[in-house]
Amino acid sequence: MVAAGSKCRSCRAPAVIDLPRHNANFCAEHLLQLCRRQMAKAIDDYDMFGPDDRILVAVSGGKDSLAVWDMLIEAGYRADGFYVGLGIGDYSDESTEYVTAFAAERGLHLTTVDLREDYGYDIPTASRATKRVPCSACGMSKRHLFDKAAVDGGYDVVVTGHNLDDEAAVLLGNVLHWDIEYLARQLPVLPAANGFPRKAKPLVRLTERETAAWCLLRGIDYLVEECPIAAGNRHLHHKSVLNSIEQESPSTKSAFYLNFIDNMAPLLAEQTAAASGDLRRCARCNAPTTGEVCGFCRLVDTASTHEPVPVELVLGKRGRR
Ligand code: FES
Ligand code: ZN
Ligand code: ZN
Repeated sequence: MVAAGSKCRSCRAPAVIDLPRHNANFCAEHLLQLCRRQMAKAIDDYDMFGPDDRILVAVSGGKDSLAVWDMLIEAGYRADGFYVGLGIGDYSDESTEYVTAFAAERGLHLTTVDLREDYGYDIPTASRATKRVPCSACGMSKRHLFDKAAVDGGYDVVVTGHNLDDEAAVLLGNVLHWDIEYLARQLPVLPAANGFPRKAKPLVRLTERETAAWCLLRGIDYLVEECPIAAGNRHLHHKSVLNSIEQESPSTKSAFYLNFIDNMAPLLAEQTAAASGDLRRCARCNAPTTGEVCGFCRLVDTASTHEPVPVELVLGKRGRR
């Protein structure tokens, strides 16, 4: 992780990680401190939530969502977890194990929903039934269920573990297509509106490498494997493009994203207001929607009546190796 003999920038103790974008090396304690400070700065700068807010953390079993849950609890916030079992074969079974073990070991409150058990479908089947990429049915299912869990549970805010690499990759995709509506909504915090809860991403100032180091140093076991059916998607390609730019010129990635938030997002704010026009309520589930019945209820109709599709049939290129 770091060249032999490297010293921590803060205390000169042996370093455990080098962070080229900070042009420095850090010992374990000062790396943890850097993570804490970066999260606190994001929460503060973007006015995400306060100490009295009830937070629902959307956890997946991966490093980022478990890291953000851990960091929030350590910082004294009131944060519960929410997990959706997606039915993606072994990947989902293992994710469930990591999340439940994390919560149980720390005595944290976790709510789980299982798509197959509770709604009669899973992501591979939904993908096949709707003839769309798995991530589309997955994203819609998760968003709907996070929102519902937050509203039903009386939470003030839904927190996700999106990090700087995620946000920069999504930003690159949105810029390459000049997708103004998505750009206008790509904010570290979205206020509650139209029946949707507030959403916040406290890790937007931390990279994947930093959240992985947090987990390692804090003894958090997480699922290292990426979702097998997301392999090869556009988002992962954008991440690797940004990584090669970053290698040539460190800190470009953070400048790309953080300067967008500071300089560009305010110019798009008007667009955000226009984009969140009037919504009505889904006739079935009462969720906010533009149509008579919301997209999630329509997805459930289509997917739950389809013959179950095994995960192997929808594996992406890399998943098939
Ligand atoms: Fe959603 Fe893989 S985690 S499609
Ligand atoms: Zn140090
Ligand atoms: Zn509905």
